[in-house]
Amino acid sequence: MGFAKYASLGLRRWFACEWIIIAHMNDSRERLVNPLPQAEDRLDQALRPRLLADLIGQERVKENLAILIAAARRRGEPLDHVLFYGPPGLGKTTLAHILANEMGVNIKVTSGPAIERPGDLAAILTNLRAGDVLFIDEVHRLGRVIEEVLYPAMEDFALDIVIGKGPSARSIRLKLPRFTVIGATTRLALVTAPLRARFGAVYRLDFYDQTAMQEIVSRAASVLAVKVESEGVEEIARRGRGTPRVALRLLRRVRDYAEVRAGGIITREVARQALDLLDVDELGLDDIDRRVLRTIIENYRGGPVGLSTIAASISEEPDTVMDVVEPYLLQLGFLERTPQGRMATERAYEHLGIASQNSNEQEQPKLF
Ligand SMILES: Nc1ncnc2c1ncn2[C@@H]1O[C@H](COP(=O)(O)OP(=O)(O)O)[C@@H](O)[C@H]1O
Ligand SMILES: [Mg+2]
Repeated sequence: MGFAKYASLGLRRWFACEWIIIAHMNDSRERLVNPLPQAEDRLDQALRPRLLADLIGQERVKENLAILIAAARRRGEPLDHVLFYGPPGLGKTTLAHILANEMGVNIKVTSGPAIERPGDLAAILTNLRAGDVLFIDEVHRLGRVIEEVLYPAMEDFALDIVIGKGPSARSIRLKLPRFTVIGATTRLALVTAPLRARFGAVYRLDFYDQTAMQEIVSRAASVLAVKVESEGVEEIARRGRGTPRVALRLLRRVRDYAEVRAGGIITREVARQALDLLDVDELGLDDIDRRVLRTIIENYRGGPVGLSTIAASISEEPDTVMDVVEPYLLQLGFLERTPQGRMATERAYEHLGIASQNSNEQEQPKLF
């Protein structure tokens, strides 16, 4: 209707193209246990811990950060540059905000792919005030040229600007206020060595254990005024893949189920029924995880199989498989990475209820 008048050919093509991209994104984003942020997770803002002491789990990282903060405060200096790495959904962004909050400074949020030209970074840097935090998410995706600008900024708090072109070009150095870069990445291996060297502190976030997961779910439930019994909490926590973002999403979906089908109270049985219906199994695996394991087991006799072959079998990008599917399967000990490729372990066979060829082979000699 009103829309029709914009439907010139070019625009129509553009919309069609955009539509395909959106449809494709929905495809993988709709996955309930996807550890990457999804639209509905915006509601989690209210659940984000604001202080280090409110953050559940990650004890070692927390202790180190407490010392870092105390030392910086005592010297009256900004925090050292900090790099967080680990699978998505474990609290990297949350920690960046906590650090800024604890230091009582502003935080400016950006990400590797968002900074396209050196000028973009220069504009950000020259707008920072002393002590401010610049949070760069997906820091492994910064362009080479941008990194070159960032090095002197992080090291000497200086910005080198080239004026003019050709033989008359000269470089002038602008002084920047002392600030803190907090970087986050799911792929430490892709952070270049010179960039990594400029972070004074590097911390790895691990999957949360069951106790921490239960505490996270139960705290979220009380903030959201969800009625849940402790066995219900246990069940949701166990299926949350050691990932707070996933557990919080499961909690919301189970709450919906409880309200519609079970009088609003989440008991163990209600949590089980809801999560079974959502196709999230006892360990938090969904259809995608099982397809990955089945591909390796049924099509390649347990592996080794290359990453791209696995990705093709579930119509995903290899990067997605590596970031979003594999870390949890590795953590469970269902998958092994070898130089030849990925292999399914005995445990994976057991979980899927498939008889392992290896164990048959081992038993055979006894029969003779
Ligand atoms: N230790 C924790 N305690 C409570 N909630 C957490 C914790 N870590 C993460 N969360 C919650 O999980 C969600 C994802 O965390 P986030 O920091 O965005 O992860 P990442 O940046 O590593 O992908 C957030 O909504 C946050 O509130
Ligand atoms: Mg994040």
